[in-house]
Amino acid sequence: MKAVTWQGKRDVRVDDVPDARITEPTDAVIRVTTTAICGSDLHLYEPLAPFMTPGDIMGHETMGVVEEVGAQVGGLTAGDRVVVPFQICCGECFMCGQGLHTQCETTQVRDYGMGAALYGYTKLYGQVPGGQAEYLRVRQAQFAPIKVPADGPDERYIYLSDVLPTAWQAVEYAGVPDGGSLVVLGLGPIGDMACRIALHRGHRVIGVDPVPERRARVAERGADVLDPDAGNDLPGVIREMTDGRGPDSVIDAVGLEAHGSPVAGFAQKIAGMLPGSVAEPMMQKAGIDRLAALKQAIEIVRRGGTISISGVYGGMADPLPMLTLFDKQIQLRMGQANVRRWSDEIMKLLTDDDPLGVEGFHTHRRPLDQAPQAYEAFQAKTDGTVKVLLSP
Ligand SMILES: NC(=O)c1ccc[n+]([C@@H]2O[C@H](COP(=O)([O-])OP(=O)(O)OC[C@H]3O[C@@H](n4cnc5c(N)ncnc54)[C@H](O)[C@@H]3O)[C@@H](O)[C@H]2O)c1
Ligand SMILES: [Zn+2]
Ligand SMILES: [Zn+2]
Repeated sequence: MKAVTWQGKRDVRVDDVPDARITEPTDAVIRVTTTAICGSDLHLYEPLAPFMTPGDIMGHETMGVVEEVGAQVGGLTAGDRVVVPFQICCGECFMCGQGLHTQCETTQVRDYGMGAALYGYTKLYGQVPGGQAEYLRVRQAQFAPIKVPADGPDERYIYLSDVLPTAWQAVEYAGVPDGGSLVVLGLGPIGDMACRIALHRGHRVIGVDPVPERRARVAERGADVLDPDAGNDLPGVIREMTDGRGPDSVIDAVGLEAHGSPVAGFAQKIAGMLPGSVAEPMMQKAGIDRLAALKQAIEIVRRGGTISISGVYGGMADPLPMLTLFDKQIQLRMGQANVRRWSDEIMKLLTDDDPLGVEGFHTHRRPLDQAPQAYEAFQAKTDGTVKVLLSP
C-alpha cells in the first residue's frame, strides 16, 4: 500500500510499504478515506526529528471504512464507517475508566515512561504506524474507533479524530465562567476550533496569531483578533479590553515551536544537527521548548485565572516564571486530549446546520501523493494553508 513516510528533517515521501493487516484479535483494518495533517506532525517534521526513524508512517487523524475485524472486536463489522482517535486506548483500565484515555494503562509506553501510545508519532509514543496511508491497522478496535453515520461528507466527521476533542478539552480545561472572557494564543486548526467552541458557548473570545489569514478566519466567526507582532504591548492591550484586569482564561494553542523564542529556537536547531543518539538524551533533559506563548499566557491571564495548554511541549528543564505563577495564583491544566471522553457530546453538534462550521474548515484537500508539498506549505503557512485533508 502507499503511505506517507518520514525520511529525515523536512523530508516526507509517499512510499510503497507492506499492507496493514490484523495481527492481534483486538485489531481491525480500515480503508482510509480521509486523513489530515496536524500541527503535531510539524513537530515531527522538524524539531522532534531525533525521536523519529526513517520509514516511520505518519498520521494520526484518520477515518475510513472497516475492511476486516479481529476475533475479539465486537460491535464493528466490515462496511462500518469509523473515525479513529489519535490515541490508542482500551476503554477498560483504571485510567480509561476516569476518562483519561491518553493515560491508558494498557498502551502506556513504559520503556520511555510515557502515556498512551499514539498513531504516527515518535518513539516516545510507541512508534505506531500512522494513518496517512491507504489502509490503517486500528488497535484496541473493540473500544477506540468512533462509529459515525453513513451519510454526510468526511469533512463533517474527520475532526473527531483530534481537532474537535482537543479544542473541546482546551475550552473545558480553561474553565471560563459564565459571561467570562477567553484569550486564545495561536489560531492554527486547534486554536481556531477552540475559538469556535468558546463562541458557541457564549464566551467573549480574543484570538492572537501573527498570520493574517488565520486571524481573518476567526474574526469572521465573531472573535476579536490581535497580531502579537503589531509592536505594542500585547498584555497591556488585552488588559484594556478586559476591564483592566486581563481575561479569566487563556488557551495556549501554540506549543513548542512558538515564534519569538530565539534561544530555544537555536537549541532546537543544534539538536537537529546532532546524530540521533546524542540529540535524543539532550532533548529529553535540556530546555528545548520555545516558551514565548506560554510566558505570554502567564502575563496575560488575570490574577486567579486559568491557563489551559493544548500546545505540545517536550523539554524536561524549561524554566518557568514560578514567582509570577505563584503570586498571581494561576491554575494550569494541560495534556493530550482524551478523545472518547468528549466525542459523544461533540457528535451532537455535527448536525446539518453545522454550528461549528466543520464542513468548510479545511483550506485544502489533496491526493495522498501530494503530501510532501502539503507538509511544506503547512509548515511555511503559504498558500493560505490552515488545514489540509489528504485523499488516499
Ligand atoms: N493536546 C493535544 O491533544 C493536541 C492535539 C493536537 C495538536 N496539539 C498541539 O496544538 C498546537 C497547535 O496545533 P495546530 O494544528 O493548530 O498547529 P499550527 O502549527 O497550525 O498552529 C500554531 C499557530 O500558532 C501561531 N503562533 C506561533 N507563535 C505564536 C505566538 N508567539 N503567539 C501567538 N501565536 C503564535 C502560528 O502562527 C500558528 O498559526 C501544536 O503544538 C500541536 O502539537 C495538541
Ligand atoms: Zn492532530
Ligand atoms: Zn485503557
